[in-house]
Amino acid sequence: MGIIKLQNLYFKPYINEEEIAKIVKQLAKEVKADLPKGEIPIFVGILNGCFLFAADFIREFNGNCEISFVKLASYNGTTSTEKVKQLVGINEDLTGRTVIILEDIIDTGNTLQEIYNIFRDKNLKQLKVATLFFKPDVFKKELPIDYIGKNIEDKFIVGYGLDYNGLGRNYPAIYQLSTKPKMKNIVLFGPPGAGKGTQAEFLKDMYNLVHISTGDVFRFNIKNQTELGLLAKKYMDEGNLVPDEVTINMLKAEVENNTDANGFIFDGFPRTQSQAEALDAFLAKKGEQINGMVALEVSEDILVTRLLERGKTSGRPDDTDEGKIRNRFNEYNTKTAILKDYFDEQNKYYGVNGVGSIKEITQRISQVFNTL
Ligand code: IMP
Ligand code: MG
Repeated sequence: MGIIKLQNLYFKPYINEEEIAKIVKQLAKEVKADLPKGEIPIFVGILNGCFLFAADFIREFNGNCEISFVKLASYNGTTSTEKVKQLVGINEDLTGRTVIILEDIIDTGNTLQEIYNIFRDKNLKQLKVATLFFKPDVFKKELPIDYIGKNIEDKFIVGYGLDYNGLGRNYPAIYQLSTKPKMKNIVLFGPPGAGKGTQAEFLKDMYNLVHISTGDVFRFNIKNQTELGLLAKKYMDEGNLVPDEVTINMLKAEVENNTDANGFIFDGFPRTQSQAEALDAFLAKKGEQINGMVALEVSEDILVTRLLERGKTSGRPDDTDEGKIRNRFNEYNTKTAILKDYFDEQNKYYGVNGVGSIKEITQRISQVFNTL
């Protein structure tokens, strides 16, 4: 779940599908427990916002009932208006029946007031109200609300049926209004020898970004014996891969340590899809996102030549043997290339020709950076 943009506004993840499912299940349970045995209630959903909630609620209720809908409107953009109109009513005879209103959200209570007005003269046995979300800080009425799924703060939300100017109802989770992302966060990507490190050094100064290289972060944490460093070392000493979670936590700590940053260049991270998802979720909570993955594209043959050349002076044993070098490409292609698809699906993949002088390549990358 990353941040989403609807028209001119940004929304960040707030309540995930799992939590929604739990809330709905609990609500249905409470409603059912309060009904006298044999009582067949009429659920009345308040459209449009309630359509997903009502459908899920009814399935969880799992008992005999009737279902109807009314359509009211009181919202304009992201602020509640005083005027509530009934657009579509119900035709059933409700005399002596138990009516249970299903609302997606109760905000000022204007809509709720209207509902009470509509049902007052229908000779019901009883009227009850179940709402998925409730904003206690803005509720202005003295009206009973029998069942509340979750109290939320007074911020505009979308998703799971709720909309902003008609948009956003289709998202299965709930998103909260957020500020426009301020950071420029880039994942620098490319096979071994493509020149990521070299380019990152130039780009971080040009754009005033913090360069986070996983390798450096690892070495720093291990050298300084931080808690995470010791943990990582334990895995490495036993010849095991450091689990994603440890790596991710190190990266998070690094981001948190640079609160004033304009953004980050991530180099050597994420390496797996689960790392990419964790990074997305972490940034999304801050109302930020990965703006793009910029990948240096260099053919393997050129890279082999480059690395063998580097091996003559670097002293890195993995740079001197063509077989070992090809092996690293294999690793890269099989494990990491999946990230290309991951970012491509979000229209965030930018391939850059990585063959040329250092300066030429910096220029090509900055052309992409400028658009992000
Ligand atoms: P109220 O009349 O102010 O209580 O608002 C109730 C109606 O406004 C709901 O049924 C929604 O359609 C809409 N609404 C209130 N708060 C939100 C929100 O945060 N997001 C989307 N719609 C909302
Ligand atoms: Mg509504």
